[in-house]
Amino acid sequence: MNVTIKTPEDIEKMRIAGRLAAEVLEMIEEHVKPGVTTDEIDRICHDYIVNTQDAIPAPLNYGAAPGRPGFPKSICTSLNHVVCHGIPGGKKLKNGDVLNIDITVIKDDYHGDTSKMFLVGDVQPFNQKLCKVTQECLYKGIAEVKPGARLSDIGRVIEKHAHANHYSVVEEYCGHGIGKVFHEEPQVLHYNGYGEQNDCILQEGMTFTIEPMINAGKKFTKLLGDGWTAVTKDRRPSAQWEHTLAVTADGVEILTLRKDEVLPF
Ligand code: MF3
Ligand code: CO
Ligand code: CO
Repeated sequence: MNVTIKTPEDIEKMRIAGRLAAEVLEMIEEHVKPGVTTDEIDRICHDYIVNTQDAIPAPLNYGAAPGRPGFPKSICTSLNHVVCHGIPGGKKLKNGDVLNIDITVIKDDYHGDTSKMFLVGDVQPFNQKLCKVTQECLYKGIAEVKPGARLSDIGRVIEKHAHANHYSVVEEYCGHGIGKVFHEEPQVLHYNGYGEQNDCILQEGMTFTIEPMINAGKKFTKLLGDGWTAVTKDRRPSAQWEHTLAVTADGVEILTLRKDEVLPF
């Protein structure tokens, strides 16, 4: 595996990009309410990233490939049974929805990538629990990160916590190395799935995301005809939380930590 090790200068730039991505999530909070469309949320985030932060929204036109257009918007909005990569559109949010907003900004060539769940109005307790347990899965994964630990330790603790709550873990999408490149090695699995050959020992200077997608029902996903939107096959809800991390000399630094965020460790 070809995992890049970042210098302290690289990490300082990642810190800035990470903080900007986190600040977009802080900024958008007050706008996420019943009656607002995900297009309006996209527009507010786009303008904030471009005009206030003087940064670039990484998703816009990202990932064009033969037979698939680039991503058409500046953020991902994944509602209820959408697992990830939901495309903002004209549908209004309604009371009881759970919405993931995933922000990736590029500043001074470096990426910061983070997402969280927003509860729209009064959310059913079973959906609140799904969101909470998924955030706990992220935190348990982060708590494993330190030099000498293995990448596979992350997926193992995430899967254990999801299964203990009778949820399933999405396998088709994973966390990723990040830096000047949006998605680079290593792949960070959120389940117990490494063969000996793709596992790796964590070292100071690695930067990657952890972004578990946890389903209330079965783990299987389906890609919609737009080439991007991934939904649960059984149409039951899915939640996701994401941070960008750096492995430090003695542990981990969360580069996309929000001001209001209280860590359990
Ligand atoms: N932000 C997503 C991730 O966590 C990737 C979005 S790619 C897009 O890796 F093209 F869908 F925006
Ligand atoms: Co990511
Ligand atoms: Co993301």
